[in-house]
Amino acid sequence: MKKQPRVLAVRFLTELSSKQGKLDSLSQSADFLELDPRDRRFVTGLVKGVLRNRKLLDYYLESLSRTSLEQLDEPVLWILRVALYQVKFLRVPDHAAVNEAVDTCRRLHKTSASGFVNAILRSFLREHLPLPGGNSANALAVRFSHPEWLVERFLNRYGVQQTLALLKRNNEPPLPVHWVNVFKTDLPSFCRELEEDQISFQVHTSLPNCVIVRSSGFSEHPAYLEGRCFRMDAGSQEVAYLGEYQDCRVLGDFCCAPGGKSFLIASQIGEGVRLLCCDASFQRLKETGTRAQLHEIPNLDLIHADLRVNPPFRELFDFILLDVPCSGLGTLRSNPDIRWRVRESDLNRFHSLQLSVLRNGFSVLRRGGELTYSTCSTEPEENESVIEEFLTQEERAAAIGDFHRTFPDPHLGDCFFAARIRHV
Ligand SMILES: C[S@@+](CC[C@H](N)C(=O)[O-])C[C@H]1O[C@@H](n2cnc3c(N)ncnc32)[C@H](O)[C@@H]1O
Repeated sequence: MKKQPRVLAVRFLTELSSKQGKLDSLSQSADFLELDPRDRRFVTGLVKGVLRNRKLLDYYLESLSRTSLEQLDEPVLWILRVALYQVKFLRVPDHAAVNEAVDTCRRLHKTSASGFVNAILRSFLREHLPLPGGNSANALAVRFSHPEWLVERFLNRYGVQQTLALLKRNNEPPLPVHWVNVFKTDLPSFCRELEEDQISFQVHTSLPNCVIVRSSGFSEHPAYLEGRCFRMDAGSQEVAYLGEYQDCRVLGDFCCAPGGKSFLIASQIGEGVRLLCCDASFQRLKETGTRAQLHEIPNLDLIHADLRVNPPFRELFDFILLDVPCSGLGTLRSNPDIRWRVRESDLNRFHSLQLSVLRNGFSVLRRGGELTYSTCSTEPEENESVIEEFLTQEERAAAIGDFHRTFPDPHLGDCFFAARIRHV
């Protein structure tokens, strides 16, 4: 039987929330891989859109349902969220959204809930519920579908205007920024290839070898499949250009997977220079190796290592990148599931992990060498407070320049933080 993309989306969302899983598991699921590319894009868009707007959709559902949402059967709740999202954001005609939702109940053996689903959706279409007004954390959290604790932090740190800008930005689709793989092509040839195939693009104005390609099926184009480019957020690319690599002989990227920043650093170093890339996840390291092979990245050694303990090296490094594991709260556009997965209490756990990765990474930096510490988080526990605590404890370390942030600067990328540190 042909797989129904909408049914698959509901099944995936139910599983994701019951297992507290990650959104990337969607692209590995067998049912998803069986879909044709167009349906895959549809399912991905639907799943991301529903997750992004979950709090807003629940606000409507809570106003309409006499049963509390916690008491609803999980698949039924996701059927309602998906249908509401389709009506509100995808302009699916009202009757089609209701019929599809009822049909999904049947296909997921939830026929007994179809009357309830039908009634809720019809009253939503009738009632035109107002949203909470004003700029309190609670009102903004509902209108922009963010966790209230995070909005409260944004308001305290950035004030109303910048918070509004950030919340809006988090709800936009990420900009499809691609790095042109200079190991396989160059920018003019790449642009020519796209022009010949009538694919529209813009060359990024501030990043080298970087192109924005909006065409929806571009990930099936040979330029993409054959590794002449890969997708990488602009904020993430910037981090790979912060260090000074000219005189380095041995460089390390100790939290490297899936390899984006390592590959950009490899493009800035000369022949004979070594780049040692580690990651604690063997699986992710393997995927990095496969990507490195496809993209023909030279000078790269992959090593399985956990930076919670001292790195397994005798030699000292001229440069080290520590793109540490973090909450990912700066990447809410691309990873909408993070809004509901990360809790405020997780930030201290990340802080301790990040501090130990920084200490252990620094232990193999040579005197005079330089390190970049980076996160894709907006939150101080993972950013300045890690650096400040480290600098107070480690007298051989000194900050180079100011902290680098891609927010609140006007910038099109995710929210990255970086600090450069020298071993003095
Ligand atoms: C933010 S990602 C790195 C992204 C990568 N730099 C890039 O640009 O593609 C963080 C990585 O740290 C790895 N990691 C988590 N804990 C680690 C640890 N204790 N030691 C080393 N790597 C770790 C994760 O597996 C993950 O691949």
